[in-house]
Amino acid sequence: MTEEPGDSVSPMTKRRPQLAPWRNAGRVAEEQRSADDIVRETGWVFNNETGERLTLAEFVATGTEEVGYYCHHLGLHWGEHAVGKTFVEIGSGIGRMTASFSRIFARVVACDLDGAFLERCRETVAQFGRPDRLQTCHVDDGRTLLIADDSADLAFSYITLQHCHPADAMALTREAIRVTRPGGHVALNYRTWTGSDAILWPVGKMVRASFRIPGLGSTLARHRSTARLGWQANRLAPAAVLGEVAPLLDDVRLVRSPKRSPFGTAGVTEETYVGVHRSHWWLIGTVR
Ligand SMILES: C[S@@+](CC[C@H](N)C(=O)[O-])C[C@H]1O[C@@H](n2cnc3c(N)ncnc32)[C@H](O)[C@@H]1O
Repeated sequence: MTEEPGDSVSPMTKRRPQLAPWRNAGRVAEEQRSADDIVRETGWVFNNETGERLTLAEFVATGTEEVGYYCHHLGLHWGEHAVGKTFVEIGSGIGRMTASFSRIFARVVACDLDGAFLERCRETVAQFGRPDRLQTCHVDDGRTLLIADDSADLAFSYITLQHCHPADAMALTREAIRVTRPGGHVALNYRTWTGSDAILWPVGKMVRASFRIPGLGSTLARHRSTARLGWQANRLAPAAVLGEVAPLLDDVRLVRSPKRSPFGTAGVTEETYVGVHRSHWWLIGTVR
């Protein structure tokens, strides 16, 4: 029996099984004939939407809408301050939000673990954004940004850090701060504990372990329900993140859902926004 390319378990997936859904989606993306097909086959890994008639244009429209309301509700107002500025997006995927960022900022560095996603990101930005403003950065080891110190005005990450090994998520947090110039900002999205994790967390661990099984693992990683159970590799509470990076930031704000009680982190302003998922929170800060 010949082995399918998706059936082998790469050394990276062995070490970080939560990455299997992205690796698989990247491979599936490479097999598609058109950008619309890619969104129909793999779009759900980015925005959780499925449908046989989805188009890239509709997919990008969801990103553009989110860019608009996060800009406003996270208090970043990048429309006013973006002229001539450099923006780093950690976990760009195939450019759902990147296209919009490239219309706002003078330079956008899209960073992702998956090289195939970055190629598609470039195509998405070519169709819906400003490709002349785009640079890509392959995060080959899942934790290092090949970007110079102090070169960005804003480092941003959305629904990505929750998918990283906790040590990688913390490494990327420090990287976001390192690449941002003093006085620039970080806006980083994390996932923390909720009551439902009493079940979700152990089940997720089992599913992640099964991603390592040749053949079965890649099948499970391609299915939405099992991929979604296994791909969240950490829960990071504000205290854990701030314990490490608060000394590097000024004017720290946390933005959480109004449905959850305050985190109560000393010396930090907490704000609420209905558009934030109950399990998510944002760290916003000015780099020292
Ligand atoms: C849920 S998708 C979100 C993509 C994009 N932010 C959006 O909202 O459409 C998460 C992305 O993070 C990338 N990713 C996962 N782990 C990563 C890591 N350690 N370093 C860089 N990118 C990573 C995945 O390849 C994927 O493109």
